[in-house]
Amino acid sequence: MRQSRIKTLAITIFTLGAIILMTAATSDNNYSKSNFVSAESSETLLTKPVLTAKLKKSSLKLNWTKAENANEYKIYRSKKKNGKYKKLAEVTADTLTFSDKDFKGERKTYYYKIKAVTRSGESVEHTYSNTIKKTVYKRKSKVHGVTYIDGILIANKTYKLPKTYNPGTNSKAYKAFQKMQSAAYKDGISLFIASGFRSYSYQKSLYNSYKARDGKEIADTYSARAGYSEHQTGLAFDINNPSSTFDNTKEAKWLTKNCTKYGFIIRYQKSKEKITGYKYESWHIRYLGKSLAKKVTKSGKCLEEYLGITSEYKHR
Ligand code: DAL
Ligand code: ZN
Repeated sequence: MRQSRIKTLAITIFTLGAIILMTAATSDNNYSKSNFVSAESSETLLTKPVLTAKLKKSSLKLNWTKAENANEYKIYRSKKKNGKYKKLAEVTADTLTFSDKDFKGERKTYYYKIKAVTRSGESVEHTYSNTIKKTVYKRKSKVHGVTYIDGILIANKTYKLPKTYNPGTNSKAYKAFQKMQSAAYKDGISLFIASGFRSYSYQKSLYNSYKARDGKEIADTYSARAGYSEHQTGLAFDINNPSSTFDNTKEAKWLTKNCTKYGFIIRYQKSKEKITGYKYESWHIRYLGKSLAKKVTKSGKCLEEYLGITSEYKHR
């Protein structure tokens, strides 16, 4: 009686085990059809590569994770998410990176995806990665005579603005300033714009007055010649008091500590005079947008270093 119960139990366990094994085998078959892979995949299956991208100075660098059993990867790009994807390249299985240097136009949004392909005998299988969206820029472009480096408008001693470039105060920059002003006010700090947008002709008279007072060589260390001032872009503001007496005030300290959060950088830093071409200006902020301002500030570099550009007049 007891023995037969044990026997029944053993048979039941065995049957259950067999059912479990069969189910596993069946689902493996299903997975191979759908390009999906379980933890214990069979050898011919592909895993989905995970694609990421980083914008470099003159290219977009794509990286993806290895797809098990892939023999090659194909890199695709499209102007629209659900549009036509053009094949940019085919690379071997041990390559998990590709640089897109072919940035057409001044500023473009592209979609990228990777196709992993495996071949065994007659059968070819493939699977796509996720699709990613990136806005890419030409390293250097000129729009109506204004220079953009990696999509960033630049005005310094190397890159001149046209006389006719007269955009007024940039509205995004102004709104960002207002937000910062409110936040400062809550901390008991009063900030205002002492000098914002300056036209070509206004900068000309300003520079000329400094030149008359201090001579060209000295004026060039703190004032931009007409066409070379960041103030002509509408993206730069002088806060409170454009003078070295501002440097150690609580307002200047607040500005240095907090302006990045609102999308600004202190444009002419101490110790960077040779690179920016100007003396330290604790009051001059430049709008870059939050994300870039954070990156530049975190790098500890001035904008010229960050972008790898110069700031030097052609003529002394
Ligand atoms: N003070 C800055 C350099 C300008 O004149 O634009
Ligand atoms: Zn300024």
